[in-house]
Amino acid sequence: MKLFIDTANVEEIREAYSLGVICGVTTNPSLIAKEGRNFAEVVREIVSIVDGPISAEVVGTEAPVMVEEALELSAIHPNIVIKIPMTAEGLKATKILAEKGIHTNVTLIFSANQALLAARAGATYVSPFVGRLDDISQDGIELICDIVDIFDRYALATEIITASVRHPVHVTAAAKAGSHIATVPYKVIMQMIKHPLTDAGIKKFLEDWETVKNK
Ligand code: E4P
Repeated sequence: MKLFIDTANVEEIREAYSLGVICGVTTNPSLIAKEGRNFAEVVREIVSIVDGPISAEVVGTEAPVMVEEALELSAIHPNIVIKIPMTAEGLKATKILAEKGIHTNVTLIFSANQALLAARAGATYVSPFVGRLDDISQDGIELICDIVDIFDRYALATEIITASVRHPVHVTAAAKAGSHIATVPYKVIMQMIKHPLTDAGIKKFLEDWETVKNK
């Protein structure tokens, strides 16, 4: 399973990319708002850091407006993936963009049927939100399993990005379920690195080394 980072914070992106573990970035209007900066400026900076798919979301609600926004965003860099909300208008925009060869990421997916529709409309990626499903007492990872089964059974080329990841257990579960990608917040990437036995092991190795280093 590939890993993307889910943030619009360029320092976090730079740091995570330097670890060699991420190969793409997802943003959304809330993440952009958190940075309090100009959208296009942030996107331009991200594409200069990461050589991989960078999702930037449209905010229009009608297909023609979404397509217009998508064309402007795509002009920034060939790695831009247009993030489109899962609505009827979003599906129309996805179809038009697919015909133009523009990559899309249909977001706010909460059911297998929504994922199937997005794939049929020509989405490059679908983003099922596991954390937000867990929040309402539904099983987010079960949704990933269902979408993996359906996409495999019908050989659909659309890739699944497990999104709304809240903790490292989500990442392991998404990988075991067969998700192609998980988009992971910076904090969770850092949590994934850590293990108390690793820390204890390093401490002990260094202590032992101190006893012989001058011999
Ligand atoms: C996905 O691409 C979204 O940006 C993100 O994963 C949403 O996560 P949240 O539910 O933690 O806001």
